[in-house]
Parts: sequence; structure tokens; C-alpha cells
Amino acid sequence: MRLNAYLARAGVASRRGAEDLIREGRVRVNGEVAGLATFVDAGDRVELDGRALAPEPLAYVLLHKPAGVVTTARDPHGRPTVVGLVGHERRVVPVGRLDADTTGALLLTNDGALAHRLMHPRYEVDKVYEVEVEGDLSDEALRRLAAGVELGDGRTAPARVRRLGPSRLELTLHEGRKHQVKRMCEGVGHPVRRLHRRAYAGLTLEGLAPGRWRELSRDEVDALRAVATARSPTRARGRSL
Ligand code: URA
Repeated sequence: MRLNAYLARAGVASRRGAEDLIREGRVRVNGEVAGLATFVDAGDRVELDGRALAPEPLAYVLLHKPAGVVTTARDPHGRPTVVGLVGHERRVVPVGRLDADTTGALLLTNDGALAHRLMHPRYEVDKVYEVEVEGDLSDEALRRLAAGVELGDGRTAPARVRRLGPSRLELTLHEGRKHQVKRMCEGVGHPVRRLHRRAYAGLTLEGLAPGRWRELSRDEVDALRAVATARSPTRARGRSL
């Protein structure tokens, strides 16, 4: 196994982050400072900053995140975290983030390589949000959300939008910018009252009460790998219904 993949499996960084650690000379294999081309075999001793590492079995968890829990491993303000809530025996970390007041589907894993790809905009992973906003949504506001909204960090990509009620909509995005849904809705004059992620990369919360989690099945993990390998050219985008 390539050393960067080994480090990702040991949960210390993504593959790209692991390459930085290797370049910085912080990784030793069998006592020798390792290079980017180093391969690791069974029985090799791998150390990061002098600490021995072992790759742990991969784990994939889907959490129904409740409100009031932060999407980090540790919170300086002592608030409950998704990692603490799950309490998994493996070092799973969240893939992307949901705001503390956002509820819904959140994936956690120690598979750094897959997490990295799922978060990369190139793979256009679908995130489906149910949004309740202030005020009644006009057709024009829905059209603007679908076409793309100019935010401080650039225009958002076309999105799928479906009206669920006078002040409620479903928004399907494949980008993952910070506070993106809230900024988009604010940008068309409708601040968000409540935000819930109904699905992530095809994974829904069926059967999962708020605060509960489950391991993904083998098939679900394979499906995630497929999503994060091929970019779908057929995906409908920029439609408001
Ligand atoms: N967009 C937001 O504004 N907040 C979230 O938590 C997720 C997407």
C-alpha cells in the first residue's frame, strides 16, 4: 500500500494531507524518513512524529444530526459534537459540515481518501435540503435559486429547486460552501428559519430518529465509491419546479 494511503487509513489525514506530512519529513518507516514513493508492507513499522501508527478497519456511519450539536471532533466552547454523539470505536470524522442549528443526514468515516473525494466539487455529490424561510417564496425567487445566486465568494452553481409550500422548498445542491443554503436564501430576500438535510449522496434518513446513527452496508459504501469516482453527465440541473 502507498504510504499516503496507509496514513489515510490510520486516520491521520486525507491522502493529500498525508503527502504534506511525508514531505515535511515527519513520517518514518522502519526508522527511516520516508518519501512520497514509499510503499508499506505488512509488518512495517510506521511512525508519525515518533508515534507508531496502525491502519484501522474502515468505518462508515450515517448520523441523523440533531440541532445543537456541532460538526467537529472537539469544540472549544464545550458544546456537544457529532463525534462525541456517535461515540464510535473507530476515529470517524464528519464528511463536510452542517451548521449547529441544521439537522439531518451527516456521513462520518475514517476513510480519508473517500471523504476527500466526496467533498470535492468535481464529483457533484447531491445534497438535498428542506428549507423553511421567512416570507412567501415567489416563483422569481425560486428561479433565481435554481439559476445561481451571486455570493461574496462567487456565483453558486445551478441547483434543483422544488416548492414544498408557501415558505418551504427543497433545494438540491452539489456544492458545499460554508453556510451556502442560508446565504443563497438570504441573497434572494428570504432568511432561513429552519434547515434540514434530507439526503446526502443518495443516503436518506429512513428509519433513523434524530440523534441516532447506523453503519452503512457494503452496497451503500460501494455506491458512495461509485459516486466519488464517476461524474454523472446526465444529472438534471438548474431547474425550478
Ligand atoms: N448550508 C447552510 O447554510 N448550512 C448548513 O448547515 C448546510 C448547508
